[in-house]
Amino acid sequence: MGKDLIKVGMLGMGTVGSGVVELLKRNSDQIKEKTETAFALTKILVRDPSRPRNIELAQEIFTTNPDDIIEDPSISIIIELIGGIEPARDYIRRALQSGKYVITANKDLMAAHGEELLSTARENKRNIFYEGSVGGGIPIIRPLRHSLVADQVKRIVGIVNGTTNYILTRMAQDNLNFEDALCQAQKLGFAEADPSSDIEGRDAAYKLIIMSGLAFGFYIDPGQVYIEGIGKVTREDIDYAREIGYVIKLVAIGEQLPDGLALRVHPTLVSHEHPLASVSNEFNAIFVEGDAVGEVMFYGRGAGSLPTASAVLADMAEALRCIRRQAVNGVIEGAKKQASLIPIDKLKSCFYLRFLADDRPGVFAALANVFGDEQVSLDMVIQKRRVNNTAEIVLVTHMVVEEAFNRALEKVISLPAIRPNPSKFRLLG
Ligand code: NDP
Ligand code: HSE
Repeated sequence: MGKDLIKVGMLGMGTVGSGVVELLKRNSDQIKEKTETAFALTKILVRDPSRPRNIELAQEIFTTNPDDIIEDPSISIIIELIGGIEPARDYIRRALQSGKYVITANKDLMAAHGEELLSTARENKRNIFYEGSVGGGIPIIRPLRHSLVADQVKRIVGIVNGTTNYILTRMAQDNLNFEDALCQAQKLGFAEADPSSDIEGRDAAYKLIIMSGLAFGFYIDPGQVYIEGIGKVTREDIDYAREIGYVIKLVAIGEQLPDGLALRVHPTLVSHEHPLASVSNEFNAIFVEGDAVGEVMFYGRGAGSLPTASAVLADMAEALRCIRRQAVNGVIEGAKKQASLIPIDKLKSCFYLRFLADDRPGVFAALANVFGDEQVSLDMVIQKRRVNNTAEIVLVTHMVVEEAFNRALEKVISLPAIRPNPSKFRLLG
């Protein structure tokens, strides 16, 4: 074992940071043996050191001054777990510039500024490891960076947000309402500090951007990604989806198509026969399709204290090995080109549509005309018995280009018999 003690500083000790401390208490000896390295967590930055924590630590380990960690030359590794863009970005940049290795689980930051931070790491012959930023405890960054590098990745399809998957599962399986399910996800530590990032699909989009950067070799402006959250998913849609053999999931899809790259996150009807349909609660699953390997699937706990701590400490172990072996382990990802994405309305999908209509003669004939005019072919139509002269109609289309479907939808909504605000979701193709 290396004699010199390697000191580690941590920024933030909330859900994930507490998991890191707990896992260190449990498995430090094993990590020391496996890395043949002596190390110690010596300082932790928090906002409020007096806040009760569920793990006992000497009060002296806490600081509210980031420079006690970033400017301490005896600290070689920094674990960033405060989240958000600033001040995390500034702290990480300064840490790399002063020759430290950096570990982070911050997807917001890696999606928006990963290229810049990796370049700072490159310039300083250091590295920034970010396995915890996607899929919680699931190994996915290393497989994309190392194991699948010989493949041409065609497609990534995944459930990559634990909070929304937890909410949709509880709504579907326990009839829980949205607010109660979200509250449980927050109590369990799955949700972001600002849960709108989960609910509105941004968290999943950041993870998709990070994976796509590694898989397709491009960096992607988050503003270009089509993002739709789960706010419009109702119990009625969940029940209808079940009736026709589907489950509604928030799915992230990255595809290398003949015309370019397409990235999108939206609620999606997934067939009960598809393996993603049985991914429940905070679990995540990611399919990667390569030209040589075919389809590979990564599955596990996508959020939570200990699962994410497992990924964070695996990254720390890699940094320890670099220091111990005196290997100058700079960034191995190549610099990426900026991608221009194909807009969603040029992509093809099958659509689910649910709306209310007056129950009177001629409504179906008018619908058939509108869809026919836009070459939208229907795969399935359901109409339940009317209530107060109002019929609920659910239909599923065959594959169609989104802009054609939207034109048809506009015309449908403008029919006098059709009520406004239909539910519209895409099916997983
Ligand atoms: P929490 O909100 O639970 O914890 C944040 C911690 O950072 C707290 O200890 C807080 O201090 C500290 N902190 C926040 N801002 C500052 C600041 N400006 N200066 C000093 N300290 C600060 O977050 P999580 O642990 O849930 O998440 C951390 C990171 O990990 C995020 O990037 C998140 O996206 C990511 N992540 C989270 C997962 C999860 O399941 N929760 C899974 C995968 C990744 P104090 O304790 O005093 O309030
Ligand atoms: N809020 C995130 C989620 C945490 O629910 O998936 C894991 O990245």
